[in-house]
Amino acid sequence: MKIGKIEIHNPVFLAPMEDVSDTPFRLICKRLGADVLVTEFTSSEALIRNVKTAFHKISIRDEERPIGVQIFGSNEETMANAARIAESIRPDFIDINCGCWVRNLVARGEGAGLLKNIPKLERIIKKVVATVTVPVTVKTRLGWDHDNIVILDVAKIVEAQGAKALTVHCRTRSQGYGGNADWSWLEKIRKTISIPLIANGDIKTPEHAKILFEMGCDGIMIGRAAISNPWIFQQTKHFLSTGQHLSEATMQERIDLCIEHLRLSVQFKGKRTGVADFRKHYAGYLSGFPFIARLRAGLIALNDSDEIIRQLTNFKQSLA
Ligand SMILES: Cc1cc2nc3c(=O)[nH]c(=O)nc-3n(C[C@H](O)[C@H](O)[C@H](O)COP(=O)(O)O)c2cc1C
Repeated sequence: MKIGKIEIHNPVFLAPMEDVSDTPFRLICKRLGADVLVTEFTSSEALIRNVKTAFHKISIRDEERPIGVQIFGSNEETMANAARIAESIRPDFIDINCGCWVRNLVARGEGAGLLKNIPKLERIIKKVVATVTVPVTVKTRLGWDHDNIVILDVAKIVEAQGAKALTVHCRTRSQGYGGNADWSWLEKIRKTISIPLIANGDIKTPEHAKILFEMGCDGIMIGRAAISNPWIFQQTKHFLSTGQHLSEATMQERIDLCIEHLRLSVQFKGKRTGVADFRKHYAGYLSGFPFIARLRAGLIALNDSDEIIRQLTNFKQSLA
């Protein structure tokens, strides 16, 4: 698969996930085999208004490459100006979000709201592509709802307007994250466009990845499955190249990675925010452990990272 200077065979992407795919999580996934990273989405309005948190969201480090910055919005001028700002931090590509289902965002015509105004989506892609020199990609859903599946038209527009790849979360907007992703659309999309097609939605095992590559997808993108199992990237790549399964991470390895991730969170965000933002990750790292609810509740109540690490280390020793 080729997007600009990125050339990787059967790449496995980490999905953009708001409040999850931040720098610490991206670094963890990169180390565990993710080939391509994408930042969580950032508002084009916030970027052009110079909002500090928006700049935090698009900040990237060289060791994360190749990495794309994702932006959202519904105004072509604003999107183009935000893309120019995003380009100044030298991402490997800029991704346009056309899939976020959140109510207040789609009400403003942003994210999946653009699936209700395809001419506007077309103008946004055209304008952003004309404004920046880095490759532009698009991430979208199948359509607004089951009766309005527009992905084949959207795919043609994305390609015609000069985008260099298309990611499809194989659900409609009205599904949110419910029901099952319908991968059967991918074969039809594959026949419709010649730019790289990246499959997304419910990829939870290396076997899922194999099925999607065999269907002709050029890349696959993993989101939620990486939250409780960041090892999924190396497990998938190992399976794709050897046909063999790597063993699952042990409980000790899960705790070690949890501690490492917490340290990165504190390093990048400071003690207070680093610990607070990390709370959502305990459930993932500790899932599958017996009698874990009490430990998790205790960790969530703590603000001191040294104490959290001490408790996690004690727990690990108790397992041994
Ligand atoms: C917590 C969370 C935040 C998300 N934030 C974004 C986002 O910022 N941009 C985006 O394009 N998709 C976002 N998504 C959607 C994911 O990128 C992905 O399309 C979706 O989770 C389906 O893939 P999965 O089944 O592998 O999780 C988010 C999903 C989750 C669960």
